[in-house]
Amino acid sequence: MVAGTRVPTLAVTAVFAGTIWLSAGQTPAHLKEFEASMTEIGDAFEIIEEMTPSPVYLLNSARGDAIARVDVARPRMDAVRKFFADRKKRDGVEFSDAAIAAIDAFRIELTRTTPDQAAAIEALEEMTRACAACHAVYREGDTINGYRFKAGAL
Ligand code: HEC
Repeated sequence: MVAGTRVPTLAVTAVFAGTIWLSAGQTPAHLKEFEASMTEIGDAFEIIEEMTPSPVYLLNSARGDAIARVDVARPRMDAVRKFFADRKKRDGVEFSDAAIAAIDAFRIELTRTTPDQAAAIEALEEMTRACAACHAVYREGDTINGYRFKAGAL
């Protein structure tokens, strides 16, 4: 009987202690991870945005390379979505969903046997608008001083 009462007590203590540790220690790590995701997404699409309107787009190898980059960026956007979902930020989740849908639509353009460059450019612009919609609400800073979450946004 004694053991039966002690075990739950210990378990509750462990969960409680864990909660304190998590809230004290994990937020900066999460923010760092978030930033790493954004940097990786940004790097992938910077190259893609240069390539898509250029004549190189018509080369299968260039579109193949772009697909590989999209496939690196895409799971990072899933992680971004989870970041907002974990914090119960509904608008952040919706912005993420819009960006994910736009990335997927652009990827479909990349996989066409006969490339439609105009459609690809349009899909990429649509995606950029989805990125910008979230940045307008959650991001502040600039290329010189760096970007961060808007104060009080989280
Ligand atoms: C759901 C919200 C959201 C979406 C969608 C989003 N971003 Fe971000 N992004 C942020 C926030 C918040 C920051 C600032 C925080 C940071 O940089 O750590 C940021 C920062 C960035 C940065 C700067 C990273 C750095 O080095 O500090 C780049 C580049 C970037 N985003 C690119 C993109 C691109 C490209 C897309 C679309 C494919 C996108 N983002 C979609 C929220 C979002």
